[in-house]
Parts: sequence; C-alpha cells; structure tokens
Amino acid sequence: MRTPSRSFSSWPALLCAFGVLFSLFSVGVAVKENDFKKCHQSGFCKRNRDYADKAIAQGSSWQAPYKILPTEASFKDGLFHATILKTIDDKGATVELPLTISFHKSGTARVTVDERKRQDKSIELRHNSQARKERYNEAEKWAIVGGTTVDVDATISYSGEAGIKIKYGPNSAFEADIKYDPYSIEFKRDGSAQLKLNDRGLMNLEHWRPKVEKPPVEEKDGVENTEKKEESASEPVGEDESTWWEESFGGNTDSKPRGPESVALDVTFFGYDHVYGIPEHAGPLSLKETRGGDGAYTEPYRLYNSDVFEYILDSPMTLYGAIPLMQAHRKDSTVAIFWLNAAETWIDIKKAKESKNPLSLGSPQTNTQTHWISEAGVMDLFIFLGPTPADVSKAFGELTGTTAMPQEFSIGYHQCRWNYVSDDDVKEVDRKMDRHQIPYDVIWLDIEYTDEKKYFTWDKDMFKDPISMGQQLDVHGRKLVVIIDPHIKNSGGYPVIDELKANGLAVKNKDGKDFDGWCWPGSSMWVDCFNPSAIKWWKSLFKYNKFKGTMENTWLWNDMNEPSVFNGPEVTMPKDNLHYGSWEHRDVHNINGLTFHNATYEALLSRKKGELRRPFVLTRSFYAGSQRVGAMWTGDNQANWEHLGAAIPMILNQGVSGFPFAGADVGGFFGNPEAELQSRWYQAGAFYPFFRGHAHIDARRREPYMLAEPYRTIVTSALRLRYSLIPSWYTAFHQAHRDGSPIIRPMYWSHPSSEGGFGIDNQFFVGSTGILVKPVVEKGKTTEDVYIPDDEAYFDYFTYRQLPTAKGQTLTVDAPIESIPILMRGGHIFPRRDTPRRSVQLMKFDDYTLVVVVGKDGTAEGQLYADDGDSFEYQKGEYIHRTFKLEGSQLTSTDADNRDVKSIKKGEWLKNMQDVAVDKIIIVGAPSTWADKKEVQLETEGKQSTVKLEYFKGDANRGPFAIIGRVGAKIGADWTIEFA
Ligand code: NOJ
Repeated sequence: MRTPSRSFSSWPALLCAFGVLFSLFSVGVAVKENDFKKCHQSGFCKRNRDYADKAIAQGSSWQAPYKILPTEASFKDGLFHATILKTIDDKGATVELPLTISFHKSGTARVTVDERKRQDKSIELRHNSQARKERYNEAEKWAIVGGTTVDVDATISYSGEAGIKIKYGPNSAFEADIKYDPYSIEFKRDGSAQLKLNDRGLMNLEHWRPKVEKPPVEEKDGVENTEKKEESASEPVGEDESTWWEESFGGNTDSKPRGPESVALDVTFFGYDHVYGIPEHAGPLSLKETRGGDGAYTEPYRLYNSDVFEYILDSPMTLYGAIPLMQAHRKDSTVAIFWLNAAETWIDIKKAKESKNPLSLGSPQTNTQTHWISEAGVMDLFIFLGPTPADVSKAFGELTGTTAMPQEFSIGYHQCRWNYVSDDDVKEVDRKMDRHQIPYDVIWLDIEYTDEKKYFTWDKDMFKDPISMGQQLDVHGRKLVVIIDPHIKNSGGYPVIDELKANGLAVKNKDGKDFDGWCWPGSSMWVDCFNPSAIKWWKSLFKYNKFKGTMENTWLWNDMNEPSVFNGPEVTMPKDNLHYGSWEHRDVHNINGLTFHNATYEALLSRKKGELRRPFVLTRSFYAGSQRVGAMWTGDNQANWEHLGAAIPMILNQGVSGFPFAGADVGGFFGNPEAELQSRWYQAGAFYPFFRGHAHIDARRREPYMLAEPYRTIVTSALRLRYSLIPSWYTAFHQAHRDGSPIIRPMYWSHPSSEGGFGIDNQFFVGSTGILVKPVVEKGKTTEDVYIPDDEAYFDYFTYRQLPTAKGQTLTVDAPIESIPILMRGGHIFPRRDTPRRSVQLMKFDDYTLVVVVGKDGTAEGQLYADDGDSFEYQKGEYIHRTFKLEGSQLTSTDADNRDVKSIKKGEWLKNMQDVAVDKIIIVGAPSTWADKKEVQLETEGKQSTVKLEYFKGDANRGPFAIIGRVGAKIGADWTIEFA
C-alpha cells in the first residue's frame, strides 16, 4: 500500500473566524412568472390544445384528417415507407406528408413524418427571410449516437387494405400495428397493447400555406397579435388564424417567416398510471395530470430551455434543460417514447379510467393519455417497449449515449460561490478547509474573476497570480473550475469578440447581421456552436498558452447557455435569429445549450498536444445527449426547506432520463440557510451524483468550516461519508456509463414490481450497492419513514442492526440531526476507502474496505470498478473491475468482465495498483454460527494463508457482524475466502 504524502492526521484543528465578505453587486430575485409564456400565449400550443378540445368534444364522430394510401405504402428490410395524406378542406384537398417507420436491432422503433412541400423547398418565406425552407431534421446529429441499425429481420405479420402489422425486436415479441385510415400505430409486446400513436386523433401537422389577405376578424384573448386582417385561403372555414403569423410577447415580435408549422401527436399508454421523465421541471417524479384530475396542473409541461430566475416549485413551468423522454410504468412493465424535437414543446397529460372488457366488469384500468406539441421541425419519435426500466435506460443510452466516465475528482465535493473574490481568497479557503479537516476536491470561480466579464481574461487587481493559486490547489490534488459563458462582450480591444466577428461565427439576427443582446457583460454576441468552424475556433481559445493562467488542474463551467439573453423574449434569443445552416433559432432552441457544452468539452480535449484527459464541464442547459459531455445542476434554487426537498425528485428524474451526473446547489443559491438547513442539505448533497455547495453573490459566506458546532462536525461527517464511499460512487458511474442506468435510483426503477414505490420520489438506492437513502428535508424532523420495497433483510448503515422491515410497508427510523437515514439491503457487497484524506486524488492508492451485507438466503454480491480516474486508458483495458460474491461458505473476487487479469498489459496506474489491497471486510448480518470462528482461509495468487476473523455478537448499540482485518489480498487479483 502507498501512503500519500499528507493525511488528515497531520492537519491542525484550528478554527479561524472568517469575516463575511460584503458584495459589491446586487441582483433582484423575484421570480417573474409573467416573463414566461403560458400555453394560451404560445400560439401553436393554444391552437393544438383547442384542436384537441374540438376533437374530444366530437367524441366518436371526430374524423382525424390523416390517412395512408395503401397503394403508396411499402415495407422492406426493416423500413416502412408511406405517404400520409392530410385532408385540409371540405373539398377533399390534401397535402402530402412522407412517413418513415424504421425498426431497429436495438428493439426501438422510429416514426418520422415530414412535409413534402418543405422537403422540396417549394414554399415562400415572408419578410425576405434567409431561413431554411425545410423542416428541421438535424436534431439527430446532436442527440443520436447509435442504436439505429435497422433490423432487416423485422417481418410483416399481416398486410391488407386496412393496414399492416410488423413484428420486430427480441424474439419478434414486439409488434407495430399500423392502421391506414385514420392513420394510427399501436405498439404491442407479446400480443398486448402498450401504447398507441394518434389514439385520440389529435395528430396535427400544420402544413405550410401562403398568407392571404382577408377582412379583419375579432381579437382573441390572451395572445397579442399584430396582424389580424388576413387569413389563409386553404384552411377550413372557422379555424382560428389569429396566431398564425407574427406573434408578440413581452414587447418582442416574432416575424415567423414560415407561418404556422407545429407538429402534434397524442400517445396513449394503456394500463399505465405513472409516467416519468421529460425534465427539467421542479415537480414530483411521477408526472401530474395537466387537463383536469386531482391536484392537476392547469398548464401543460413545457420544454423551452430558459433562464428562470428563482424558479417556483411544483410546477410544469419550463426550466433550463430539456430531455423529451417519457417512461410509462406499471407493475412489471415499462415502455417509453422519445420525442426528438428541438423546438419549444408542450406536453399535456391526462389519466383516463377505462373498462378492460366490453361488459365493464372488474376494476377499470388507467390509460395515461399524453399530447405532445412542438412548434416546428419534423415529427420524429422513438418507441421503447421495455419491458423493464433498465431495458429502457439501456436502449436510450444506446441511442443518445451514456454518461461519460467522469474525472474521478469530480465525484468528490465542490466548493463554489459567486464569487471567491481574489486568488488570495481562494488560497485562504483552501487552507481553512485543511485546517478544519474538511475534504474537498474543487474550488470554483464564478464570473467575477474575469476582467469586466470578458471570458478568457482575469481581473488584474484581484487575480494577479492565477498560476500560483492553481499550484497551491495542486499540492493536495485539488482543482479549479472557472466559468465561461457563451455571450462574448461586444467591446473594442477584446480579441475574442474581434475574432468572433471577423470569422463570422456569431449567431445572426433575422436580417443576417451579428445578433447583439444583453447579458452579464452588457452588449454581447453569442458564439454559434452549431457551426463546425465555431467549434474549431472555440477549441483554440482554451489552449494553455492562449487562456493564460489556466493549467492542468483547471476545469470548466458553462452557464447561461439556454441561451440567457436578458433583453430577449422570455430571457432568451428571438426565435427568428439564424444559426449555422440558416436554421432558425426556433428550430434548434432546446439543443443550443448542448452545442455550447459540447464545444467546451471538445476544447478541453485539445488544450495541449499529446494531453488526452477526460474533460470536466458543468452545464446548466442540456438536451438528450448532454450526458456524453459532462455534468448538470438544477440552477438557481433557494435556501429553504422546500427547495431542499424538491431537488431529490429533480435529480432522480435526471437519472431515469439518461443524464444522471446531476446535482443541486447545496445550501440553496439564493438566501442564507440556517445551520440546521445547511447541515441537512450537506447530508442530502452527499448523495447527489454531483455534489457542490454554491451561493449567490448576495448570500453570506457559508463554507462548511464557518458553521458553529455541532453543525460543523455534522457537515464534516457527511462529507467524509461521501469520501469513504467514493469507490462505490465511481462503480455506479461506471455502470451508468456502460448501460445507461441511473446513478441514484428511484423505487420504481430498482423495484419495478413494488407498486407502493411507484409514487415515491424522496428516497433512492445508490447504484447497485443496496444503499438506500432517505435524506431528511424537513425542519426539526428527528425520524423518517422509509418505504421498504421487498422482502429482503435491511440493516442500519451505522449500527449494523437488522431492522424490522416488511415488504411494502414503511419503517420509521431515527433521524436526529447528526444522522442520515441510510439502510443497507441484504444481498449486496460494496467497496469503501476508509482512511480520511483531503481529496479524492490523495485516496488513489489507498486500500479498500468491503462491506458484505448478507441477504436472507445467505448470499451477497457486488462490484468494484476502478481506473486512473483521469485518462482514456480504461478504454484499452487499463482498469480493475471485480465481482465479489458470497455464496455457500465462500467469498470470492473474480474479474467482472471475465478477463484473465494476469495477461492484461499494465500501464502506470495498474502497476501502482498492484500493491493496493483489500484491507478489511465487514460482514453485516454474519450468521451466529460464526460466533466461535477465529480465522478464515484466504487463497490468492496461488498461495494459502490464514486471516483473523472477529465476530461481534451485537449489543444495545450494534447489530451482530464480523470483521476480517488485514486481509491483504490484492484488489486486482482473484481470491477466495473460505469460511467453512
Ligand atoms: C446563474 C447561475 O445559475 C449561477 O449559478 C451563477 O452563480 C450566476 N449565473 C453567475 O454566474
């Protein structure tokens, strides 16, 4: 075993008072709900909701105007092609909508509907717009990375005038039943209906039409409309055209050069009464109804990435990011759809009771009826038929990529605030964390480190010597994260803006000129990261010799990338702005944040020739696929108990939506948490995949060491608990990287059969460790009720005592302020590193502790994954991946990937790991028959030895357990311990 140069034991235990720094800045904090549209203020949302109302009111007499001509349909090699005809007037005129359905080897199906006239570019744009004429079809370029190999073995099981049925997927268990008139598709698994597209006939693809002058019509409520004198010739009489053309909101007018062009579709999930996903919203994990029903929202869920200052809770209001993936779950079955669209999107949810049989006998089932409405683009969606939540996560991971293997330091604790005011301030915080023996890995610099918000520069007075700051941090393996936003200050003498303009890399306004808006630096322009040349240029800015003051331990934070434009409509860019390829901002808005995040990720890959390390970039805005390039956090929350509670479902939702490297500002961004709240927040934050304390510029200083006792000790313990479990967290990240699974897992995901858990979103398991956490999120609370999803044995994490649990029941556990309710589920083995250190890097070659939690059947299993935590060498086999198994009288460690570990070529890290051992093994729930046992036999690397075992009977404070101390078996080697 290697001993790192410094350990906690050498730390002085002095506490210095730290003066509160007064801020020079002040920002208003009132949430301005009215800055953001409601559905009735977004023309296309209103039109589609009205359309739905009309269709539903007509009941069975509603005739959906979309049909497929059987003669135009064909199926070959896993692809179905047809033309949908949309009837657009009473005389039977139609427009053509090309339809493609592809069936993939991965088991997903994809349905894409375009518009012929737009494909052919035979439309006219208004206002001399330079925008593209096609419908946006490039979202896949950013979101999709695999899983679309077509399944040529998909077969027709029926074909006739009325429609066609295609069998596909594993063992041909999936079926798509395509009906021609009206057009609909029902998806079945093992013959039973799971979900149906256009079930209620709400599909609506607003085709292009020329604007035709008409006499004035009456003004409608809610939507400001600048021109109401005109109407199209080709729409049925009586349609509300008031929102077809220019639309204004909050003093901004959208020129809408293509007129109305929304795409909408209803999707019914049969027998499913829980739906999850479609982040980002601050509400429960199990999504609420939005069109009537108990406790329903009145607005649809909205996805339109926005800088929502001080957001409100329990709301379908849009937030900073968007992942249009919805999972539907019922006992033992999960299905999902992914709506691949980058434009503003609204989703209505309704739960309808329906009799399962024609005689209305038995209890009715719940069908969740959803209605998806996007402003622009092609209609493009993927269908996942499960049957388990893990199957959906895996298939979505194949499609959009899984979470990147993180820099290992980045799963330690991050200390941030807006702002550490100088390099001396940073050094001082660093010293004080050490003085108080509080582990941390990263300290962050917010926008004030720059010279007048000019990114890639430093404030010359306050950050005189950034390199010496970075070097001090490096002594203990710590890092610095600096913020770089996408708005570039538009002022003279700043080379970055000069280059941006000279190279034509900025987002353009509707007239094709560089778009100028307002953000932190004042007048600014936005780098257009849809443009490959912009990415190339962006990469050049991060080179160590260009961004002076940065070094190998400097990493990145991308904020405001929705993008936030203070004087823009809804605090973002005008929709008629133009991006690379002449796509309107309207088409690509929700992907914008991902493109910027991606450019920074790319930049960090090429800071120096020959240096290839995993980037760390935190983003605020995101889309499906962002998980491939970094971490996210939930933005500007508040220092109150409600926000502490709200963060858990939000982070869980990120996990089931494929972007699990997620966290919330610990302590709350706005305001000043009382000590109890701050302590509870650290206890919860210690179980966020991304763990960062952050505070607004007006908030008082609140580094953990500033807390008075007992709170400082409480927070320090939570941090140390996090650090001891880093090997388990890293293993969970690796699993997420391999199969798309969430890092913290809600009950429905871990226990898809346990119905009582489907609505629970305030407790979770950490990866596959069996560690079940229920953070306390209420003031003054000293007990917690934990839902027990199964029949296994559960033990208290700290006392090892077996708890009196029963399947489907809640158990009340003590939760005084010093403790976090953590249970260990029987049947698991998880790794720890128990020597307290200052940072993750200093733990790199520490020995391991294994905790074996014996299941009711006497077995247990678990994994450890480890690599150098920094490079991409793991892709070449430079890693350790073990499976530990307790079975019969043996505990074994074998290679989890069935590799012959002896033959793996060893790089530097693996060589160093050769000396790292399993130090101790704690066996929780060890059988009482071991009471007299004093030793066990260890067999490893061809040698036998005897190792001491101590058995503790248990007493008033502890449950029975056994410890095997000083095991000595190498962590990377195969070994067996024999208990017989
Ligand atoms: C908004 C971000 O959400 C917040 O975390 C940050 O401190 C401020 N921008 C200033 O950069």
